[in-house]
Amino acid sequence: ERMLAAGGPLTGRHVLVTSGPTHEPIDPVRYIANRSSGKQGHAIAAAAARAGARVTLVSGPVTLPDPPDVDMRRVESARDMLAAVEAALPADVAIFAAAVADWRAADEAPEKMKKDGNAPPPLALTENPDILATIAHRTGGRPRLVIGFAAETQNVVAYAQAKRARKGCDWILANDVSAQSGIPGGVMGGDTNEVHFLTAEGAEAWPPASKTEVAEQLIARIVAALGPLEI
Ligand code: CTP
Ligand code: CA
Repeated sequence: ERMLAAGGPLTGRHVLVTSGPTHEPIDPVRYIANRSSGKQGHAIAAAAARAGARVTLVSGPVTLPDPPDVDMRRVESARDMLAAVEAALPADVAIFAAAVADWRAADEAPEKMKKDGNAPPPLALTENPDILATIAHRTGGRPRLVIGFAAETQNVVAYAQAKRARKGCDWILANDVSAQSGIPGGVMGGDTNEVHFLTAEGAEAWPPASKTEVAEQLIARIVAALGPLEI
């Protein structure tokens, strides 16, 4: 006779979530960032916790309150975020909702840069590590489900399906972040989202919904994919 874990459908599972933007330092007072609010990632972490999972939320700088019942790891830069994610493994599921800065300043100035009456300084950039691809391509200790997001402004499904394959993740939630997306005020910073859910089998267009509803729909798919936890 099978024994199943009591509690919510994710009881006994560890779910790791990244959320928010990253801040990439230029000098002690300046940084590169983006418009991510962290709302979608935080909503996913909250929904996973409500489903009974142990949740680690690795978040860049956001103004949102911490979701209830999650283990918060606050980070600033992409490199810090990768280190916090690796330190939080193993996990059954990893969901990469953070808007990680693709580039950082090649050299962080140790002192505040001054105008000094000269021409503006050039800003040389270097590429950040890809956290999602690093975890998805792990040979040992890869989470059973690795899930990414894709922010696109055109050819949303085609670009995101190519991204899914390139990064080696199982699923991608793709959204249109262009001003023409049909979401009033835009997806970034807003409370609603309209995503395409992409797997190796194909794409499903989910109807526009609140970020909480999108999170709950994703958690339901995760529960169905993992199946019951046998103890
Ligand atoms: N991501 C990541 N680390 C990075 C860049 C992106 O973990 N350095 C993750 C994001 O959290 C997201 C997914 O990769 O889950 C896709 O992010 P996106 O910005 O859409 O893709 P990129 O590969 O950065 O491609 P581009 O921005 O050029 O479209
Ligand atoms: Ca990017």
